[in-house]
Amino acid sequence: MVDLIVGLQWGDEGKGKIVDLVAKNYDIIIRSQGGHNAGHTVVVDGKKYALHLLPSGVLNPNAMNVIGNGVVVYPKQLIKEINNFDKNIKNKLLISDKAHMILDHHIAIDQAREKLRGKNAIGTTGRGIGPAYADKIARVGIRMGELKNIDKLIEKLAHYYEMNKGYFEYLKIEIPSIEKLKKELKEYKNALGDIIVDTTKYLWDNFDKNMLLEGAQATLLDIDHGTYPYVTSSNTIASGALTGSGLSPKKLNKVIGIAKAYTTRVGNGPFPTEDIGSDGDKIRKQGAEFGTTTGRPRRCGWFDVVAARYAVELNGCDEVAIMKLDVLDGFDKVKVCIAYERDGEKLEYFPSDLDGVESIYVELEGWDKSANVTKWEDLPKNAKKYIEFLEDKIGSHIKYVSTGADRKSTVIR
Ligand code: IMP
Repeated sequence: MVDLIVGLQWGDEGKGKIVDLVAKNYDIIIRSQGGHNAGHTVVVDGKKYALHLLPSGVLNPNAMNVIGNGVVVYPKQLIKEINNFDKNIKNKLLISDKAHMILDHHIAIDQAREKLRGKNAIGTTGRGIGPAYADKIARVGIRMGELKNIDKLIEKLAHYYEMNKGYFEYLKIEIPSIEKLKKELKEYKNALGDIIVDTTKYLWDNFDKNMLLEGAQATLLDIDHGTYPYVTSSNTIASGALTGSGLSPKKLNKVIGIAKAYTTRVGNGPFPTEDIGSDGDKIRKQGAEFGTTTGRPRRCGWFDVVAARYAVELNGCDEVAIMKLDVLDGFDKVKVCIAYERDGEKLEYFPSDLDGVESIYVELEGWDKSANVTKWEDLPKNAKKYIEFLEDKIGSHIKYVSTGADRKSTVIR
């Protein structure tokens, strides 16, 4: 049985908390796309962990964790994360030999290109994600399995640097010396070599176990279905998780979509329900909306039903978790976008481009004191009405309502 957790907005929905909450039900937790651009914060008994590459299942002592073929792995970060978390975690971690590797030059290219784009910058996390996926698609990427034969890999990289010499010069990026590269690659091999395997086969061999695919980034950042070009470079939706792990669609049992009770976005790109006034500021402050990976302040705004309904459909959600409801405590009124308007036309479907769309809102009565509530019947009346309203509009059962950062602060309906 395979279940999937996927973000329904522009990321940072709090997927890590739900993964952590349900992780005890699963034997294997799988990351299938993205890389260390992700930042999953989980809080257990007051202790905060920021995970970037390690699947959130590392917090479950009995679960096996898999970094699947669709992930782009920056070995330096992964080694650091393993050492910071607990060296023994390696006994519960496998990395796909088909996953592509991020090297320092990918990061340098990402940052240099963003600088060159100026005001049209995507606002990437600067982690080399786009350049690494670009190499993968151009069939010049490096797979983790290639660490097996460092000499051959060095030869391949030398050719790659030679081919890209002009491009590196243009971007003012230094090509690393072969000596330095060899040393680094050897370090990666020593640290990770024994856990790099064919994870597709591992998953197939373990079909009798319960598996959870842990999505990174989110639906509206999907390279095909998101707000292109202001997206990440992988398929973040449910079908991407299957490609990124080698699991067939027929194995998928349940899809859990995660959305915040409001909307945030880091980086540039359209955001119809963004509130650049005091309400947005209040949400940012109450929700501590600053990026886990980059520390950037997140853009904040109201819940967008048009976007959420699109995401529910793209992913085939069976159930939804609404996160950070407590952040809206203390608002007299809360707004929800129920449709867009463009050139006098009402749009109820999320269009391929959001140029010039305006949000059409309804206002609902606000509430206070939903923080850390654990039972549905204990939620303030208007908070319950808000959740029921969203449920009706997005067309999927809202099973979880999160009312605080801790694992315990969750209503399960
Ligand atoms: P990249 O994935 O670093 O290339 O960044 C592309 C876009 O995706 C930027 O707008 C980033 O801010 C956004 N992004 C990437 N990863 C995350 C994430 O984990 N949470 C939220 N936004 C993300």
